[in-house]
Amino acid sequence: MPAITVSEHIDRAVRKVDKSTAIDHWDRNLGRYDAEELMTEVLGRKLTRAVLDRVLDSTSKQRFAAMVARRVNGEPIPRIKGHYAFRGLDLLIRDGVFVPRASSELLAKEAIRVLRRRRGQRVAVDVATGAGPVALAVANEVRDADVWGVDISAEAASLGKDNARRLGLRNAHFRAGDLLDALPRRLRGEIDVFTIHPPYVLRRDLKELPREIREFEPLQSLTDGSDDGLGLVRRLATEAHEWLKPGGVLLVEIGTYLSRKTQATLRAEQLVDVSWTKDDLGVTRVVSGRTPRSNARTGR
Ligand SMILES: C[S@@+](CC[C@H](N)C(=O)[O-])C[C@H]1O[C@@H](n2cnc3c(N)ncnc32)[C@H](O)[C@@H]1O
Repeated sequence: MPAITVSEHIDRAVRKVDKSTAIDHWDRNLGRYDAEELMTEVLGRKLTRAVLDRVLDSTSKQRFAAMVARRVNGEPIPRIKGHYAFRGLDLLIRDGVFVPRASSELLAKEAIRVLRRRRGQRVAVDVATGAGPVALAVANEVRDADVWGVDISAEAASLGKDNARRLGLRNAHFRAGDLLDALPRRLRGEIDVFTIHPPYVLRRDLKELPREIREFEPLQSLTDGSDDGLGLVRRLATEAHEWLKPGGVLLVEIGTYLSRKTQATLRAEQLVDVSWTKDDLGVTRVVSGRTPRSNARTGR
């Protein structure tokens, strides 16, 4: 059999990934992006012309074939690689914990913007933190802020801790618990910003999800079981008055189709200056609201 070049291995993989029914083919070049990303991971170098024209050695060939088979079966690329780049941070990824998405970079960016405008000791809390992408990016870019990530999943909190340790981010802390249960009580009334990328898929929509999400992400990372997808957001908006400083900000990353309902939810919970922003990806929006400057509910 003639020797096959790196470029030809990629072309063959593209054809396989393109045919997979387990994957959401939201971009017609997805198969190529995926195959190139996996080959880059295998070779540990950029795919220059010289690299593409090379014949692949047998160890790399086997590794690449195994990775492509996993992708064709629907496994998300970051899970196959075991790591994911988020706002310049290389994050570890593990089974049982939601894979971070590029769309969440906007949530981190907005939180960083809020914190940079505020003075004194600043505190940020990322609720439903997963592997901790938002909390870690905020801790990295606002080094003197105290940043907390909380998640109901013990695996998620443990992965967040491992990521913080690996990245040397001593201002990032992770705890496991329902909503805010695991936060130290001393943080009540001291928080500048809450971020949340909640599990917002409607219960009835779960079966419509592509296999790469339905079978590879933990159920509790996809839905909170509520009929409108906003159960967790509503609970956090209610609690926000107790935990945020007066004028503190709540930022919610949500599917574009839920943006209006999310805004209505924040207003119903007496948050003010409710608005939204989006980035070029256009898949999600960040809805924001803040507590009033003087808090009638808490008397502060
Ligand atoms: C869509 S994932 C987002 C993870 C992470 N913020 C990210 O963007 O990669 C939602 C997360 O919510 C967590 N979660 C679900 N119910 C929760 C609850 N009641 N309290 C805290 N976290 C919860 C899940 O474990 C999951 O990690």
